[in-house]
Amino acid sequence: AEVHFHEFIVQATPMKRLCRTHNIITVNGRYPGPTLAVRNGDTLVVNVVNRAKYNVTLHWHGVRQMRTAWADGPEFVTQCPIRPGGSYRYRFRIEEQEGTMWWHAHSSWLRATVHGALIVYPKRGSSYPFPHPNTEFPVILGTNSLLSLLDIYAYAWMQMISCLTGEWWNEDPVQVIRRATRSGAAPNISDAFTINGQPGDFYKCSSKDTTILPVAVGETNLLRFINAALNQELFISLAGHTMTVVAADAAYTKPFATSVLMLGPGQTTDVLITTNQPAGRYYVAARAYASAQGGPFDTTTTTAILEYSNSGGGQAFPPAFPVLPAFNDTLAATTFAAGMRSPRPVKLPGPVDHHLFFTVGLGLLSCPPNRFCAGPNGTRLAASMNNVSFQLPTRLSMLQGYHLGVPGVFTTDFPAVPPVRFDYTGSNISQALWQPERGTKVYPLKYGSVVQIVLQGTGILAGEEHPMHLHGYHFYVLATGFGNFDPRRDAARFNLVDPPFRNTVGVPVNGWAVIRFVADNPGVWLVHCHLDVHITWGLAMAFLVENGVGALQSLEPPPPDLPLC
Ligand code: C2O
Repeated sequence: AEVHFHEFIVQATPMKRLCRTHNIITVNGRYPGPTLAVRNGDTLVVNVVNRAKYNVTLHWHGVRQMRTAWADGPEFVTQCPIRPGGSYRYRFRIEEQEGTMWWHAHSSWLRATVHGALIVYPKRGSSYPFPHPNTEFPVILGTNSLLSLLDIYAYAWMQMISCLTGEWWNEDPVQVIRRATRSGAAPNISDAFTINGQPGDFYKCSSKDTTILPVAVGETNLLRFINAALNQELFISLAGHTMTVVAADAAYTKPFATSVLMLGPGQTTDVLITTNQPAGRYYVAARAYASAQGGPFDTTTTTAILEYSNSGGGQAFPPAFPVLPAFNDTLAATTFAAGMRSPRPVKLPGPVDHHLFFTVGLGLLSCPPNRFCAGPNGTRLAASMNNVSFQLPTRLSMLQGYHLGVPGVFTTDFPAVPPVRFDYTGSNISQALWQPERGTKVYPLKYGSVVQIVLQGTGILAGEEHPMHLHGYHFYVLATGFGNFDPRRDAARFNLVDPPFRNTVGVPVNGWAVIRFVADNPGVWLVHCHLDVHITWGLAMAFLVENGVGALQSLEPPPPDLPLC
């Protein structure tokens, strides 16, 4: 195993897209940032130097961080932010993980532009469980990349206080919120989606910079898709070629063929393609899956070009364009996700020690003092899990609070609510479920306990698919479905044989997902919706996994340069 050292300079960088130059925050002046490539078992040491004007932290999405929660990155959860002028050295091992991960800022909305791929190859001397590809490409889908940071901050702040404009007051407040929530859930603020940093042929001033994926005829190629978009689930298609899915979220899958992928923010999917088509150029295209129907969203399409080396430059003919599902094609989205299986039967952890039921959805909060909030009865938009809208601490990170035994950083009373039934027409949901309390609440777990969670989309205000991410773990997705989870009916649908092993699961719109994992990694681990607007609104909670017995079951000591608040 090797140790890889990298220096990441976080800095403002002028970047020209769509005919205009903006200053965006980058790592080492690049957007997307550098691709890190390591092998299973290697150690990464990344020294992050903050030369930007904003606080920053980095998260290594998909890395389990066994006993190294200090390197996980979400601000105020596992560390205080790296202040402007400061630095922090993230050090962690890749333990028994392979596939496509990524890294991104986990502070405010900086991840819009501060992200990159993290590829984990098999150990030296071992190989993929599929034919070795001739070439590999990371394919990073982004969005909102063209906003200046100030715009992002202004927008985030606006969302934070969630004030609706007064002119909507003459309408039925439910309609107002419904509409605002929809636009908030998929904010129409992106100028373009991007592939590897480029919007592609269908945007102004972009054609000549369109991302090219060069291939030769008769090859097998591995495309590693990463949805790094801030707030948008995306459909992806490739003209003329069948894609064979071989991995998702840094875990291998049973191979299956598909013509379309759907990735929520946070998810990754690896596909093999065979270049068996006539010499030519073929579009890779991505556009929104708008699960919250009826609201505004970005309807533009980003493209890259798969270019055969024998196509002679091929500029004479436009590339072939693939078929993409309609924006609201929930069936296509869920069918794709439901096709995932582990390659072999798994040894599912059990018996279950904690049967949990967590609601995930939107709601309303009362207005902070001295602020104007124009929601119904002076409220503002919020999101919650089990009706708790997650709030970050400010004095100390939650992990430091646990490690040092400092009381008051969080409370351990994250509520276990009994299964609630939702009427997804939205007309008779109890007021109590519209009005979450704010809190920094964890659900404590003993080391080694087996946890099963029903994640139930509430459909309150607006139903929408929520890509739910668990830090520090991979989990088995036992089943997903629509409507209210019904233990008697739906337990029969659990895949207890070869469920997929993921770190981010799409909870279908007005539906549910059931996941299971064993709490064998001590630390404070965030669970959240990976649509950043929702985490801003509080759609998050954290598990506190206590140290077990001995060093191998305990958190390592914090690094000496851990930033303090
Ligand atoms: Cu990819 Cu909490 O994040």
